[in-house]
Amino acid sequence: MEQVPIIKLRQVSKTYDIGGRKVLDRVDLDIYPGEFFVMLGKSGSGKSTLLNLISGIDQPDDDQAQIIIDETDITTLNDTQLTLFRRDHIGIIFQFFNLIPTLTVMENVTLPLELNGMKRKASEKIGQQLLDRVGLGNRSKDFPDKLSGGEQQRVAIARALAHSPKIILADEPTGNLDEDTSQTVLTLLLELTRDSGKTLIMATHNPEVVPLADRVCRIHEGHLQVTRQSPVAKISEIFTLMK
Ligand SMILES: Nc1ncnc2c1ncn2[C@@H]1O[C@H](COP(=O)(O)OP(=O)(O)O)[C@@H](O)[C@H]1O
Ligand SMILES: [Mg+2]
Repeated sequence: MEQVPIIKLRQVSKTYDIGGRKVLDRVDLDIYPGEFFVMLGKSGSGKSTLLNLISGIDQPDDDQAQIIIDETDITTLNDTQLTLFRRDHIGIIFQFFNLIPTLTVMENVTLPLELNGMKRKASEKIGQQLLDRVGLGNRSKDFPDKLSGGEQQRVAIARALAHSPKIILADEPTGNLDEDTSQTVLTLLLELTRDSGKTLIMATHNPEVVPLADRVCRIHEGHLQVTRQSPVAKISEIFTLMK
């Protein structure tokens, strides 16, 4: 049975005013539900640009471009609609964690739920489950500066998952972590997304991710070169591989 893509990019180009180079040149791309899609490519090749277009943080150059997510062309949404769309569909994980320093760990994780209007008691229940899941159930009252980099990124993963988005975008999520911590964070992120059939799109320099991906794309001079990986190993095999 033919699967329907959850994300569809058509004729997406991006040029920045400064520099004037086409970072992305009429890109077409389909991403399928539950896929783990990895973007490799030199620094400056356009990985973050592509992720920012998918999240609606950035806009394509021209009007013909389409970015269809879950049947909505997000290029037609205004800023408010985009914010609401993102809060419903997308969770984002950044290289530098981007936790809010004046909020506790729990408040950081429950923020997306509170923004969506959930009552505190209900949001904290979900927050606690997620913090337990990332191994930080006993750190909910701490502020982010009391946590190591790896711990902060685990909180950021919990935050990205809190509102149960179907799509997770991760921009070099292990780029600021040492090798061991990277492994832990990566394993956790894969477990939490694979378990629930989420679509994960990750930009990374970490070559260890490649064998775990369903497809890998390299961005070169504005164009995507997509390669399909061998059929996805069973989840248990993946985690054995990673140990
Ligand atoms: N806001 C911006 N203004 C001007 N140029 C930008 C902006 N964001 C990115 N660029 C340029 O676009 C290119 C791609 O950047 P980026 O997508 O961040 O690459 P990557 O994430 O692969 O390192 C780079 O040449 C970068 O300098
Ligand atoms: Mg980048």
